[in-house]
Amino acid sequence: MGKISNTRIFLIMANIESSGRDGFTSKFGVLAAAAGSAIGLGNVWRFPYLMGQNGGAAFLIIYLGIVLGIGVSVMLSEFIIGRSAGQNAYGAFKKLSPKKPWFLVGFMGIVAAFVILAFYSTIAGWTLEYIYLSAVDAFSGKSSDDLQSIFVSFTQSDIRPLIWQLIFMAITAWIVYLGIQKGIEKYSKILMPSLFIILLILCVRSLTLENASVGLNFMFNPDFSKIDSSVILNALGQAFFSLSVGMGALITYGSYVNKSNNLSNTSFQVSIADTLVAILAGVVIFPAVFSFGLDPKEGPGLAFVVLPNIFQQMTGGVFFAVLFFLLLAIAALTSTISVLEVVVAYFIEELKMSRLKATIISSFSISIIGVFCTLSFGAFRNFKIFEKTIFDLMDFFASNILLPLGGLLIVVYVGWFLNLSLVKSEVTNEGTLKGRFFGVFIFIIRFVAPLAIMLVFLNGLGIFN
Ligand code: PFF
Repeated sequence: MGKISNTRIFLIMANIESSGRDGFTSKFGVLAAAAGSAIGLGNVWRFPYLMGQNGGAAFLIIYLGIVLGIGVSVMLSEFIIGRSAGQNAYGAFKKLSPKKPWFLVGFMGIVAAFVILAFYSTIAGWTLEYIYLSAVDAFSGKSSDDLQSIFVSFTQSDIRPLIWQLIFMAITAWIVYLGIQKGIEKYSKILMPSLFIILLILCVRSLTLENASVGLNFMFNPDFSKIDSSVILNALGQAFFSLSVGMGALITYGSYVNKSNNLSNTSFQVSIADTLVAILAGVVIFPAVFSFGLDPKEGPGLAFVVLPNIFQQMTGGVFFAVLFFLLLAIAALTSTISVLEVVVAYFIEELKMSRLKATIISSFSISIIGVFCTLSFGAFRNFKIFEKTIFDLMDFFASNILLPLGGLLIVVYVGWFLNLSLVKSEVTNEGTLKGRFFGVFIFIIRFVAPLAIMLVFLNGLGIFN
């Protein structure tokens, strides 16, 4: 603790101001990009089915507690590391703690980005196929079994899912190649408001269905007898994945944020927006699920099998189906760009590549791993390691090992090893902000968060159950 002198802090700051690095140009741009990273398949596809499987409202309450009590602070820690160093996730640790092994945490983040993008782009590709299927009215008159077999035969086929995955990767790579200001910021500022508008339209449609109240009751009427340790631990894991913390995506984005941004406010606003979208996605999905007498515990198929079933029975179903899958694709895209940027920033700054070369090499190599994830639903579906398909293995390795471990090391680093006055200076913008919650923040990252994360981690490894 206390290893960095004031001169060093000054040098670090002066260095950033004069670096002429690409960066976000407005407060809204930062918010849109960071919320874009957080809001993704995790909110619209994963959160509703986890909530369905973990007791509805009870899960929601625990989730809210975790996001506010821990999530915001982990996010703020990442922003602090990123902005104070003004470097990619690996370079940031190297710069703040030279000659110490902390850069390994950054390196782990780069690895996590490879793994996450490889499997995430599989599902992201599916959203494109489903936009297409919705637009050509492929769900009309189909039974539940038909819809199930459309899903299975698509995901098991060899070529189509791969083509969509590669198209999705290409779009991601294009935006990242354009850079922070002209790519990530610009597109996030267009895509995120669009996402909110689509979400609100879908909410209105869902709430005006007959029996919508049964779905709302499931979402908002807690049955506390449903809460047990596995519900809590599931909520904690989902909160991390959903907030995009633990792998340096927000360290990387933080490095593009200017010195006048209030990082505590940004962390709070991003966490609220992320949670709001998860809840609204539930408001779209559950009233519809109950209105049409389907099962909220359906699991990962909820979005791709249950929802088409609902849309095809609904007035204006084609329109709402296209909107829904477009929403899913937009949410996924603003997340995939944040993951790819982690790798690209590392290649540019540490391996001295141009942005073009870094983008091509990273997206190409991630796509190769991605192909195996996609084929693990089809040609390779019987190939298993530790009883898991390649896709499940990657998801498990990233979500249950790399993210919790990364998150743990990040809070421990900021709480115990980073110079306290540097941390305070970042939170208060060199004393110009009050930083009323600074004490609470430090308490959380020193004690509460490490303990809680340790619990998820052990659970993720199956040691705890
Ligand atoms: N937060 C994204 C989601 O909820 O879908 C997923 C994600 C994006 C995780 C970026 C991690 C990350 F760095």
